[in-house]
Amino acid sequence: MTEIDLATDICGIKLTGPVLNGSGTFDALAASRVFGDALLEDFPFDCYVSKTITMNPRPGNPPYRLWETPSGMINSIGLPGPGLDGFLDRDLALLSELEVPLIVSVMADSSEDFEVLVERVAARDEVDAIELNVSCPNVHSGLIVGEQPSETEALLKALRPITAKPLIVKLTPNVANPQEIAVGAEEGGADAVSMINTVKAAAVDPDSSRAWLGVGAGGLSGPAVRPIALAQVRVVSAAISIPVIGMGGITDSESALEFILAGARVIAVGTENFRDPRAGSEVTAGLPAALTRRGFGSLAEAQSVTFG
Ligand code: FUM
Repeated sequence: MTEIDLATDICGIKLTGPVLNGSGTFDALAASRVFGDALLEDFPFDCYVSKTITMNPRPGNPPYRLWETPSGMINSIGLPGPGLDGFLDRDLALLSELEVPLIVSVMADSSEDFEVLVERVAARDEVDAIELNVSCPNVHSGLIVGEQPSETEALLKALRPITAKPLIVKLTPNVANPQEIAVGAEEGGADAVSMINTVKAAAVDPDSSRAWLGVGAGGLSGPAVRPIALAQVRVVSAAISIPVIGMGGITDSESALEFILAGARVIAVGTENFRDPRAGSEVTAGLPAALTRRGFGSLAEAQSVTFG
């Protein structure tokens, strides 16, 4: 078989291939403790996206936090983390040892806190780009930025002057017209959008007649949401000129290719990482054959297809 070139880029960041991880779905620090150098030598992704960082440390949501569904899962993790100082002082040094570009995800409950997060994270040389998580369904931030185009645009306009590094907006699927949010992000100065975050969902424990999840509801991910994600990637990529990072139930090279053909420039593996931490490598390994079967001589050829 002739060699298929998977090299690509996102927002000017050169990548050896198109496979990222979804934020919060692959803990590189824990994986590094378990797999050691083997992980660094054979990292499953072409670019690493950190768990979302908040200003202050967070314990996350009360249990239960997970519910398995047919073809997916609901999570209500609630962004536990070390806070900005803990991340910059400790975690970032370890993440910078990964031999792939690093995108740091941040989330705040005010524009002012977003500004501090972006300024301090972007100032670090180890960081290649910043993802703005305006779409977590599990944290009641009081901000509805990601659900209103004008709010999204205003946030980006406040953040854009702070850094020249790429700003990526993580979109929620929980709106009627995600393309309007994406247009707001682009007009505010975003360099890319990533999508989709999880779909609002709940699980009921019939024995107790109560919600299973500690905070009552969470976000659905996995193959169950893939058709929703594909539909939204399609309309969003047609509405904006900045690139789309597509995700939502990608399990293998076939489903990854579906996202590329729907308009995503690169893709991210999320929930599948919990089943198989090497899922990213499996996607990459299968992509050349998946492309060849459709007559594509390179990833770039598939990226240039306009979805009918
Ligand atoms: O709850 C969580 O930690 C997940 C966050 C998200 O979906 O953005």
